[in-house]
Amino acid sequence: MRYLLILAAAVLLQTSATPAGDADNGKTLFVKVGCYQCHNYEGHGGAAGARIAPNPPPFRGFVSYVRSPKGDMPPYREKTLSEQDLADIYAYLRSRPRPPAAVPLLTSDPVPVRNPAAASSADVSGKPLIDNERVTVWDVTAADPNGPRVEGDSVWVSVSRPGEVVVKSKGARADIAALGGRAIAIDLKNASKPPLENKSGYPNAFPRPGVRKVLENERIIVWDYSWTPNQPTPMHFHDKDVVVVYLADGALKSTTPDGQSTTNEFSVGTTRFNLRDRVHTEVLAKGSGRAVITELK
Ligand code: HEC
Repeated sequence: MRYLLILAAAVLLQTSATPAGDADNGKTLFVKVGCYQCHNYEGHGGAAGARIAPNPPPFRGFVSYVRSPKGDMPPYREKTLSEQDLADIYAYLRSRPRPPAAVPLLTSDPVPVRNPAAASSADVSGKPLIDNERVTVWDVTAADPNGPRVEGDSVWVSVSRPGEVVVKSKGARADIAALGGRAIAIDLKNASKPPLENKSGYPNAFPRPGVRKVLENERIIVWDYSWTPNQPTPMHFHDKDVVVVYLADGALKSTTPDGQSTTNEFSVGTTRFNLRDRVHTEVLAKGSGRAVITELK
């Protein structure tokens, strides 16, 4: 009987005891040994790893998993991370904020570009690519000098000359030939929205490392960004609606903090409207990736 009690107590200790840990030191270790690369700084999961914060598996299971993991995760042995180190990491994970509840994926509203081959002069006065409360967007070629008719202030993103952008005011048209022959025209409507307050715990989408700010005025900020293969962007929060004009052929995999992911293909000239209030990281999954991104204020 006494033996059984001791056994029961030992089992209880084994399964339920979570040793005290130092969350600050855990944070340092989490970065130093590279956990963050797959699990994201907050442990919310990312391009490669599962979500492990703020509710990691029970401590014993956590330790044995880290010592002999499954899948793509490398093992961490006693000499790299002691039992106490793991307790510190565990304390850090438990101290993390909960990720934002429901995070929409990158493009709930994919608007496919019209087939570029079909964008002949006969077709250009047809339908806009996008028409919503904030913008009307057209795919315009120099072969069609008359259409479309923009009404408000507008942004003209060259497709033929990546990185060139022109802004026009009140219904004026840009010279498409001077932009290389093909451009995406973004006609801005008068529905301005102040940026959302960022309570996500992640940085804003822009600026981000490697981005070029093309221009900014009171209505828009325009960014030129290229994705590098195998280099996920930091997990980030979009506080503004954006119009994205892709200038390369490829696919981006987008992953939310809770590990949901989706892959979106694009080609030169593909244009999408993405709503604000979303958190995700992106990584180039195929081809090459460059886009001119217009944030709407
Ligand atoms: C190279 C990427 C990578 C690194 C680095 C990495 N992990 Fe993982 N980890 C993963 C992946 C992928 C999974 C999910 C494995 C599966 O089930 O296929 C995972 C799963 C886990 C799990 C199990 C989650 C569960 O609910 O079962 C824990 C715990 C964990 N990792 C902790 C850590 C810790 C702590 C570190 C650093 C000491 C670390 N990982 C470093 C990729 C990584």
